[in-house]
Amino acid sequence: MDRKSTKDKPLSEKTTEDFAHYFQTTYTPPDIKKARKRGRDKIEVHYDFEISDNLRQIGEGKKFLIRTYGCQMNEHDTEVMAGILTEMGYEPTERAEDSDIILLNTCAIRENAENKVFGEIGHLKSLKVEKPDLIIGVCGCMSQQESVVNRILKKHQQVDLIFGTHNIHRLPNLIQEAMFSKAQVVEVWSKEGDIIENLPKVRHGKIKAWVNIMYGCDKFCTYCIVPMTRGKERSRRPEDIIQEVRHLAAQGYQEVTLLGQNVNAYGKDFEDIDYKFADLMNDMHKIDIPRVRFTTSHPRDFDDHLIEVLAQGGNLLDHIHLPVQSGSSYILRKMNRKYTRESYLELVKKIKKAIPNVTLTTDIIVGFPNETDEQFEETMSLMEEVGFEAAYTFIYSPREGTPAAVQKDDIPMDVKKERLQRLNELVNKQSAASMKSYEGKTVKVLVEGESKKDDTVLAGYTEKNKVVNFKGPKSIIGKIVEVKITEAKTWSLNGELVKKAIEVN
Ligand code: SAH
Ligand code: SF4
Ligand code: F3S
Repeated sequence: MDRKSTKDKPLSEKTTEDFAHYFQTTYTPPDIKKARKRGRDKIEVHYDFEISDNLRQIGEGKKFLIRTYGCQMNEHDTEVMAGILTEMGYEPTERAEDSDIILLNTCAIRENAENKVFGEIGHLKSLKVEKPDLIIGVCGCMSQQESVVNRILKKHQQVDLIFGTHNIHRLPNLIQEAMFSKAQVVEVWSKEGDIIENLPKVRHGKIKAWVNIMYGCDKFCTYCIVPMTRGKERSRRPEDIIQEVRHLAAQGYQEVTLLGQNVNAYGKDFEDIDYKFADLMNDMHKIDIPRVRFTTSHPRDFDDHLIEVLAQGGNLLDHIHLPVQSGSSYILRKMNRKYTRESYLELVKKIKKAIPNVTLTTDIIVGFPNETDEQFEETMSLMEEVGFEAAYTFIYSPREGTPAAVQKDDIPMDVKKERLQRLNELVNKQSAASMKSYEGKTVKVLVEGESKKDDTVLAGYTEKNKVVNFKGPKSIIGKIVEVKITEAKTWSLNGELVKKAIEVN
């Protein structure tokens, strides 16, 4: 069916509201005001996800491609969408020109993330002209923003389908609509309190796996769009998480990373049970899987019970990513982080005391509106004082719909860039020093595969998440081995295989 020929006038001539009644199709756009609200609705868990028989055949003989732009949560959503598409008969491809459906799983965290996606949407236009039946879909966090959806509707006619982060389980029906509808299909729910449990997944690899433990964020840091794009905090039931991790262990997975925007808020929304993140980690400790990581941890909710549980070690690794954002208590207050420089340092002290070998890494934003030189210097000194071994550093990017975005900002961009550069120099210095300290030591490495540059070299990760390159047989891929470090580079380590695989089970 030639969909193009059925379109009666260019979309650029219509307003978004026209679509709902003009075409008989789904038009549920995002609403940022609704997305901000936090209702008291009970969180329902659905275990009855099913793809109907007629939708299961839609993809037979067809191929899909999903491009992912966001965080681990987004990567994991891509695994779910790949699972759904596979159950619909689609096969994966890496090539856009071979695809029958292309989904862009987007990120809204900073402006440059969004620009990349708009660039890609532009590139895909010519392919859509060549292949009018190709379905191009935009999903992920950008779709949750009204301005983005309006821009796509007005300027990017090649996009057939826009759906939000709460609408992933609706993918089969949405694809069907996009195939047969004359207009762009838009379905973005702005407020969501439900959890859909048994969605299919095609995981990327058989060694490490992501496991969602909660969705959404209620922290409302003033710079951040995530509470609007991911909805309110809601935790998966402990038994569902435990069962998933046990199942992964039984399949031979060596590592799981528990995912949430703020994993320390896990369980706070349970009304019937008193079961928090520390309890969950305690249960993870009992599961026979060699490595358990988690991300991301908000300093505010990092309690003593959690520290005590993590100090047991074993499969709970001694690497904690603890985003600080700024070293200035004033800026932290403006960011609504709800902790101070002093309380953060106090927390770090407690963690270091309980877990003496702990590695700490962080996220930092420079150039928050009106950040003074002195306030920036406080971030520099905190970086040293804590001794972070790595940090993701960002220049503040105003996000429409967030409180910080409407603040006047007197700090010029070159000052912000200079600060970022200085901070990065310090981060590199600290990272290089921590790498150097591994020389001569023996570390446990989970072998993930061959190095891209040289197939006689293997690459893997230490417990503290450092990359190690070393020579060894391919038979140890997927196993944990001991490697003696011979040389430190800034971002990776070189070593020699000491012991063959440690038999884990
Ligand atoms: N939930 C996590 C963060 C997820 S976003 C947490 O609170 O730790 C990852 C990082 O992106 C944040 O830690 C922050 O450093 C950065 N970030 C978020 N919003 C930003 C913005 N508007 N501009 C620049 N960086 C931002
Ligand atoms: Fe954003 Fe703050 Fe929530 Fe992290 S905790 S996702 S930075 S609002
Ligand atoms: Fe980006 Fe959404 Fe993750 S905004 S960082 S993909 S939660």
